[in-house]
Amino acid sequence: MDLGIRGRRALVGGASSGLGRAVAERLAAEGCDLAISARRAALLEDLAAELVARHGVRAIALPADLADPAAPAALAAAAVEALGGIDILVLNAGGPPPSDPTRTDAAGWAAAFQLLATSPIELASALLPGMRKRGWGRVVSIGSYAIRQPIEELVYSNAGRSALVAWLKTVSRVVAPDGVTVNGAFPGRHATPRIEQLDRATAERTGRTLEEVRAGHLASIPAGRYGQPDEFAGYVAWLCSEPAAYQTGTFTSIDGGIVIGLP
Ligand SMILES: NC(=O)c1ccc[n+]([C@@H]2O[C@H](COP(=O)([O-])OP(=O)(O)OC[C@H]3O[C@@H](n4cnc5c(N)ncnc54)[C@H](OP(=O)(O)O)[C@@H]3O)[C@@H](O)[C@H]2O)c1
Repeated sequence: MDLGIRGRRALVGGASSGLGRAVAERLAAEGCDLAISARRAALLEDLAAELVARHGVRAIALPADLADPAAPAALAAAAVEALGGIDILVLNAGGPPPSDPTRTDAAGWAAAFQLLATSPIELASALLPGMRKRGWGRVVSIGSYAIRQPIEELVYSNAGRSALVAWLKTVSRVVAPDGVTVNGAFPGRHATPRIEQLDRATAERTGRTLEEVRAGHLASIPAGRYGQPDEFAGYVAWLCSEPAAYQTGTFTSIDGGIVIGLP
């Protein structure tokens, strides 16, 4: 199926690894020009060169740390300058570290909200006016199934991401008349470095082996396996597509059935 986005200009966050990288690869395969961002510049440069060689698109690496309050404005400006405008924005970065939900602190909340809510809101706010003016835009946020079913050891993530979803839902109605859609995709448990890191942390904390930790998670996934990043990226690419023009303000879990409860 032709997604109809050849030549569209996309800014993809968290593109040096995991889900963000898989999304960047998918959008490049669809013919999008790309600005890819994360903190590790060398990984981004390698990926940009690979995308240019493999798909013949423009691809530029824009390193940024979204924990830094100054980063969103600078990243938006650099992306617009590099590609001449941004039509597709994929909001994505890392998640906060695991913690005991009864022992949070103000510094932890400030850091979590900066990374998971304030920075993506500021990045999107800087790029939405251009999309609205041109009458076409796509914003897709990579969240977590934890918004639907809180994960005990990731309370900063549960709360910070929920704040972002409240903003996205509100804004989706405001920008819809201008041809701009705003949606979210919530991963369940996909085989990425982040999930590997979380499984290892749980194993260390609980004294179980990595295999035991994984088996525990698999027991809660009706599909019986972790997802692959490209399975997730396919849905994000769909949300960025021309035929998805009428889909906005939606938030969908791609989780092999983890979330228990009606949607
Ligand atoms: N994989 C899953 O099944 C799953 C499930 C639930 C939620 N999630 C969430 O989905 C997002 C992507 O996860 P993933 O599994 O793809 O993780 P990942 O492989 O660890 O990738 C995270 C990406 O975010 C970037 N990043 C981290 N901190 C950043 C910061 N301060 N500023 C800018 N970029 C930053 C990382 O690159 P650098 O290190 O180069 O900055 C990397 O490119 C995360 O928010 C994660 O919590 C994933």
